[in-house]
Amino acid sequence: MIVTRNKKQETRKPETIMSIYQYNFPTTIRFGAGACNELGDYLKKNNLSRPLIVTDPVVSQLGFFKKIVEDLKSKNISTEVFHDLHKNPVKSDVYKGTDVYDATERDSIIGIGGGVAIDVARAICLRINHREDLFKYDDLIGGDVYVINDVPHFITIPTTAGTGSEVGRSAIIADDETHQKKILFSPKLLAKIVFADPVLTMDLPPFITAATGMDALTHNMEAFLAKMQHPMCEGIALEGIHLISESLEKAVNNPDLECRSKMLIASLMGAVAFQKGLGVVHSLAHPLSALLDTHHGLANAVNIPYGMQFNIGGCEDKFKRIARTLGLKDETGEAVVQYLFDLNSKINIPHKLSDIGVREEHVETLADMAIADFAHPNNPKPVSREDFRMLYLKAL
Ligand SMILES: NC(=O)c1ccc[n+]([C@@H]2O[C@H](COP(=O)([O-])OP(=O)(O)OC[C@H]3O[C@@H](n4cnc5c(N)ncnc54)[C@H](O)[C@@H]3O)[C@@H](O)[C@H]2O)c1
Ligand SMILES: [Fe+2]
Repeated sequence: MIVTRNKKQETRKPETIMSIYQYNFPTTIRFGAGACNELGDYLKKNNLSRPLIVTDPVVSQLGFFKKIVEDLKSKNISTEVFHDLHKNPVKSDVYKGTDVYDATERDSIIGIGGGVAIDVARAICLRINHREDLFKYDDLIGGDVYVINDVPHFITIPTTAGTGSEVGRSAIIADDETHQKKILFSPKLLAKIVFADPVLTMDLPPFITAATGMDALTHNMEAFLAKMQHPMCEGIALEGIHLISESLEKAVNNPDLECRSKMLIASLMGAVAFQKGLGVVHSLAHPLSALLDTHHGLANAVNIPYGMQFNIGGCEDKFKRIARTLGLKDETGEAVVQYLFDLNSKINIPHKLSDIGVREEHVETLADMAIADFAHPNNPKPVSREDFRMLYLKAL
């Protein structure tokens, strides 16, 4: 999705007050403590009795997951669980899941988990009725135009508060050999319904809460700053930033249902807002996952202060609004950057890339990958390969 926008942005006329825009906010979201208990009745109401549940190996062992499956069984719904996924998901994961769907004759797909499980669930949805090589549908090469057939009924249940993939229309899947990330995108891949239940996130460990929470903050901040015209997304992004400023530190260090709820809605809001685009921080982060298997949220968390510092020049007014939203006395971009370093300290995220396994000899390769990444063309100011190199060195 993001990539399609970039391509369009590169070719279309400059936006003016006379331009015509399209705004899409279509997902039905059932949000709140206990929302996931509605899943069985929803399936029955929609005549669905054979869902494939896609999750990851860790979530498949958690109590709440087993309870969801038991609840469906008690309602005579036949369930098949697929959880054979990599930490950074790859094409063969999607093919294996599709084989399970076929072999067990499923009629719908439910993604339960963090961004990884939900992205793989979405990619399986695509593959069911689109059997060319999966990467033929890569949005970067215009592959979205081949997504023409129906997809199975798709439901998402997030269990982290970070990516917001549950409300997205894209899946990020890497090549098994090159580890290069591809984006599968189509409006057809939107979930029909999201059951967003903060209770499922109550026992997220502190490190995952911190890393995924900083991913959500990065989505909201980058979306707010992204250069496309989209006042609706900007409003959502600012409120997302506000909710995270009220709740992330507590969610990491002393969680309760209120801060978990705020983080979950803020992560959904970040993903809605980043229809507008992302930016330099995500392009710094993606190569770390591809090259070093770094968790996506952690990669964003360490890079965000440096990326935001890079963006200040020319965006002073927008940083002033972010600073106000964060309740900072000093309403400047520099104060926002300091806030981000301080927040990282409070939630035990390191300040330096060297603390998460990056070494100087990685920098040239990382810079090559970052300049080729899909996220930065929407950054409010252009980013060159040299800028990426300097940013990595600064963060090292
Ligand atoms: N499609 C999109 O729009 C989009 C946007 C951003 C990122 N992504 C993708 O999302 C992925 C990252 O997702 P993520 O940050 O949610 O990480 P994740 O899915 O890897 O989850 C992080 C870890 O938390 C565990 N976990 C999940 N829920 C839990 C719970 N309730 N309790 C305890 N442990 C739990 C998982 O097993 C995993 O080990 C990346 O692959 C990234 O590319 C997708
Ligand atoms: Fe992200």
